[in-house]
Amino acid sequence: MCGIVGYAGTSSANADHGALDVLIEGLRRLEYRGYDSAGVAVVADGAIHSRKKAGKLVNLENEIAQAPLPESVTGIGHTRWATHGGPSDGNAHPHLADGGKLAMIHNGIIENFAGIKAELLADGVEFLSETDTEVAAALLGKMYSNGADGDLTKAMQLAVQRLEGAFTLLAVHQDHPGVVVAARRNSPLVLGLGDGENFLGSDVSGFIDFTRRAVELGQDQIVTITPESHSITDFDGNPAEGKEFTVDWDAASAEKGGFPSFMEKEIFDQPAAVADTLLGRSDAEGRLTLDELRIDAEDLTKINKIVVLACGTSAYAGQVAKYAIESWCRIPVEVELSHEFRYREPIVDKKTLIVSISQSGETMDTLMAVRYAKEQGAKTMSICNTNGSTIPRESDAVLYTHAGPEIAVASTKAFLAQITATYLLGLYLAQLRGNLFSGQIKDILADLGKIPAKIQDILDRSGEIKELARSMADASSVLFLGRHVGYPVAMEGALKLKEIAYIHAEGFAAGELKHGPIALIDDGQPVFVVVPSPRGRDSLHSKVVSNIQEVRARGAKTLVIAEDGDNAVKDFSEFVFYVPETPTLLMPLLATVPLQIFACELATAKGFDVDQPRNLAKSVTVE
Ligand code: F6R
Repeated sequence: MCGIVGYAGTSSANADHGALDVLIEGLRRLEYRGYDSAGVAVVADGAIHSRKKAGKLVNLENEIAQAPLPESVTGIGHTRWATHGGPSDGNAHPHLADGGKLAMIHNGIIENFAGIKAELLADGVEFLSETDTEVAAALLGKMYSNGADGDLTKAMQLAVQRLEGAFTLLAVHQDHPGVVVAARRNSPLVLGLGDGENFLGSDVSGFIDFTRRAVELGQDQIVTITPESHSITDFDGNPAEGKEFTVDWDAASAEKGGFPSFMEKEIFDQPAAVADTLLGRSDAEGRLTLDELRIDAEDLTKINKIVVLACGTSAYAGQVAKYAIESWCRIPVEVELSHEFRYREPIVDKKTLIVSISQSGETMDTLMAVRYAKEQGAKTMSICNTNGSTIPRESDAVLYTHAGPEIAVASTKAFLAQITATYLLGLYLAQLRGNLFSGQIKDILADLGKIPAKIQDILDRSGEIKELARSMADASSVLFLGRHVGYPVAMEGALKLKEIAYIHAEGFAAGELKHGPIALIDDGQPVFVVVPSPRGRDSLHSKVVSNIQEVRARGAKTLVIAEDGDNAVKDFSEFVFYVPETPTLLMPLLATVPLQIFACELATAKGFDVDQPRNLAKSVTVE
């Protein structure tokens, strides 16, 4: 939610780019985090100059084209996902304070803003927006003049000590050219190190065009950047350290690469996402070595329960994991939405392994749930796609997925990489605990190793599913059915369609149909059915074939995803898409792909922006 970027450079060191170039490029890359409005503020000629506009970044660019900003080497930029106050020009960031001398941008929610606002109103401060951010900006202005003696970093310390909630704040002041001050609590912020210039971003994509040297910042820290230096302190001003790392992808990985949308490109990245996530994690004998886990093998052998915490698509990856890990390791696995877990009284203790799954590593619901579980004594492990993000940093252990940057708001390649990582975890636990023979693990790893080529085979035949999608552009409702691991696949297929094509879609456990949802079936109702392998578990396949017949008998248009050679489904389907043979537990890595292509193509046919669907943001950093 909300993308933020900050820049401090010198005109001599960086002749080819000024502050505005860095800010606009950073916002373009961070726009996936929110696109209700965009704005920038730069410091030049002893004054703050700001432009902001509701809607996507292009509106801001047009505004700047009409009313150009002066040359500058210091500035901040923001792309918004609205929380306090609607998506208007007035509520767009930056917000100015202290008579326009300082500008502030913010990601998060300041929970005690109303009390502070009342106090500032009593002091005679006037507010122009409905945002909590303007209150924080005014508070910073007050601290700057009273108590901080014109020291912007000190003023930020005094201001954040009064704030509650989640925030990353960035501020510039007209009297401090070349200085950007930032603070973070429960919201993401990364520092980028350049040569004669320094950067701040919600994540590294905010400055990836300029540097790959980055520093992770900790909780409750303040960072001040100038072109030549950076200093990090805690909220009391005590010196603090960040952890430097090198970003392992470059700007080109975050480009569309000739595809019409990031989403389509990311669907086509999936063979690599799975292969890269498997890479280097087992030897030729099929022995897994997850050295990076940072969790004691002995502790892992003692756990008696796994609780997977995640939201949205990542939670569906967790549901797939449940089937695999329970089958391979015989450990009970519960999968719970992070926000539901956090606010009940879950039973976890030191024998519980919490596995959080998060593409961004910043989802606030999941972060809060992980912190809560940690307080209860549980061991916490993070499966995450974003190096240096908060959830892995606060977890006892981490298993990174290597899907590369995922820009489209709807998750695709991260989902497949997450499932792959959970399989690796399951096999690793089975190896440690002796639940599977080494030969069995080796066989499963060999099957996993064949998955990227099988996904490629599906992608090569994407035309079949695209044609179906285009023919269904007028559909107003699509249902998805699956059993066993096909059930989370069905829910993921429905979620993709809801979020980018704005069509009513539901995923059901096929067995649940007769307990209610079958009443929805009417003449011509499209129903996707994910059919398990006929070579798999004895009755699973025939049960799903019966479910197809049940809905068809009531008028449904049946669209089937089945395994190569499954002739049993043909007579009962309007459309069949065949995926290559694979063991049932690994099937989600294949069966999901045609459903992603279907949603992407259908939304495109309806003329929607598949990368930036309405009302959504990629990284949900508020609870
Ligand atoms: C759906 C989607 C969301 C995310 C969810 C969790 O396409 O992207 O449902 O999966 O918001 O996000 P992460 O994985 O970043 O914690």
